[in-house]
Amino acid sequence: MPKILVEKLKFTYPSGLKALKGIDLKIEDSESVVIIGENGSGKTTLVKHFNGLLKPTSGQVWIENKNTKDYSIAELSKTVGYIFQNPEQQLFKETVREELTFGPKNIGFSGNKTKSRVEKIAKMTNIYNLLDLNPRRLNFFQKQWVAIASILTMDPKILILDEPNTSQDFLGVNKLIDLIKHLLKSKKTLITITHDLNFASKISNRFVVVSDGKILLDDPPQNIFVRQKELVQANLISPPIPRLGISLGFKYPPISNKDFINMYRELR
Ligand SMILES: Nc1ncnc2c1ncn2[C@@H]1O[C@H](COP(=O)(O)OP(=O)(O)OP(=O)(O)O)[C@@H](O)[C@H]1O
Ligand SMILES: [Mg+2]
Repeated sequence: MPKILVEKLKFTYPSGLKALKGIDLKIEDSESVVIIGENGSGKTTLVKHFNGLLKPTSGQVWIENKNTKDYSIAELSKTVGYIFQNPEQQLFKETVREELTFGPKNIGFSGNKTKSRVEKIAKMTNIYNLLDLNPRRLNFFQKQWVAIASILTMDPKILILDEPNTSQDFLGVNKLIDLIKHLLKSKKTLITITHDLNFASKISNRFVVVSDGKILLDDPPQNIFVRQKELVQANLISPPIPRLGISLGFKYPPISNKDFINMYRELR
């Protein structure tokens, strides 16, 4: 049984807007999957089904063998942590410490376990010095880290990051990449939504392209970067390294700088 199984999922908002038009998707334990696609294609709507924030209009979503329609958000959030696209929708306490403490306490961690999780995660996400501040006073970049930390304290097996890199600068994005790699080493299953294919190729080997409520492509980045027509359709641009590789006539698109150098040497 996969960690996440989506079968024939359709979702229509109360407004009548058909956001998902038949999605089938399987995500295995400890996988890192990136979801890409243009604005309004249905990425957020899809992942909100994984922790029960939304329930299918038709079709099924299974999380570790549990049909989400039979479980509450509270129950599912023990397994699935969802970090909102906009951290402001997620922060509502007076201090960062309370923000980080709320989740683990809520799902029944003991006082001691909660305290040690908060300390550990605050250090890991570099927000230890913010613990006594009011989260609303922080800048967007810091709020994003607090939102990430407040989910990590619950130690969920599945993590969903909805555009975590949008307001991060170069250093922030590199810290995010390090964090994601660390989480993958500790056998978490990760689903990351992003518009940045360069960031995406550093954290995942499986790109799921969503377009108009459907899955357009589901492949390793090498296979995605050559599909120029579909990328244009989904309003995406390949990062410079694979693009340059393709234009130089490489057999397949290089992902990292190292790939590029090796393939360039082979060509000469
Ligand atoms: N609460 C809502 N009520 C009605 N329609 C909605 C609601 N939330 C999203 N939609 C619509 O559903 C469609 C899919 O939206 P969704 O937020 O899932 O897209 P997305 O791929 O995450 O986009 P973005 O890249 O901008 O975050 C869009 O047409 C959007 O306008
Ligand atoms: Mg979205």
